[in-house]
Amino acid sequence: MRCAHAFAPSRRRAETRLDIVRLEVADRRLKHKSKYTLDRGIPGAFEGETITRRRFMTGGANAAGAVATAAFALPALGFAIGPIFKSTPVHWEAVGAESLFTEFNYVPVVLTLNPTIGEAGKTTVYVRKFNAAIDNDPYDKGTPYIAITSRCAHLGCPVRWVDAAERFICPCHGGVYDLLGRPVGGPPVRPLDRFYTRVNGEQVELGPRFSVNSELRRFSPRDPGEPLDGIGQYLYPSRPGAQKL
Ligand code: FES
Repeated sequence: MRCAHAFAPSRRRAETRLDIVRLEVADRRLKHKSKYTLDRGIPGAFEGETITRRRFMTGGANAAGAVATAAFALPALGFAIGPIFKSTPVHWEAVGAESLFTEFNYVPVVLTLNPTIGEAGKTTVYVRKFNAAIDNDPYDKGTPYIAITSRCAHLGCPVRWVDAAERFICPCHGGVYDLLGRPVGGPPVRPLDRFYTRVNGEQVELGPRFSVNSELRRFSPRDPGEPLDGIGQYLYPSRPGAQKL
C-alpha cells in the first residue's frame, strides 16, 4: 500500500497546471473583454447593453457637476488673472502752461485718472518746477517738474498742501508730509506717490503714477497702506493690471 505522501508531488503539479490554465483564461478574457455588459457578467445586465444604467447615471451626474463648477469657477478665474494680460495705455494730460508753476511752491491741478466715470475719475495733483536745491535725490535728475498726488499713503484720504507750514497735511488721521512728500508724522507708511512729468510745447503734461520709498526710489504704483522700504517692496507687489515702470 502506498502512503498518502507518495501522491503529494503529483497533486501539487496538477494544482500548478490548473493555476496556469486559470491565469491564461483570465488573461484572454481581459484582452478580449466584450463591450456588452451581459457578456461581462455584470449583475442586472440587459441584452445588447454596453454600459450599465448605474455607470451611465454616475457619469451623467459627474459631467453635470463639472459643468456647474466650471460655470462658477471660470468667470472668477477670469476676473482674477485677466488683468495680468491687460496692458494699460500710457496717458499724458496737459495740466497748464509752464508759466503757471514755480520752483518754490506747489500749484494744485486737476488730473483725469479715469475718463469713463466722470468727476469721480479726477484727482488733485500738486505740481512745482524741479528745484536742484531741494530735489537732490538721484532719482529725480532730469525731471522737469515734481508732481505729487493728493492721495494719502495711509488710507487714501485727500491731503492738502499748507504753504505756511510747508507741509502736506492729511485730515483723516493726522498724517504729515514734508516738502518732498515724505512722511514726518502720523501713520503713513511711505511718501506720497508721484506722477511722471514732461513739457510738450508750452504745456506741462502729467503721465503715469508711480510710488516711491523713503529714499524717493521709484516703484510701480502701490495702493495706500503698502510700505516700500525693506521687505515691504516684496510683500506688497503692484496690482497685476497696474502700469509697470
Ligand atoms: S488717511 Fe491720511 S493719515 Fe490716515
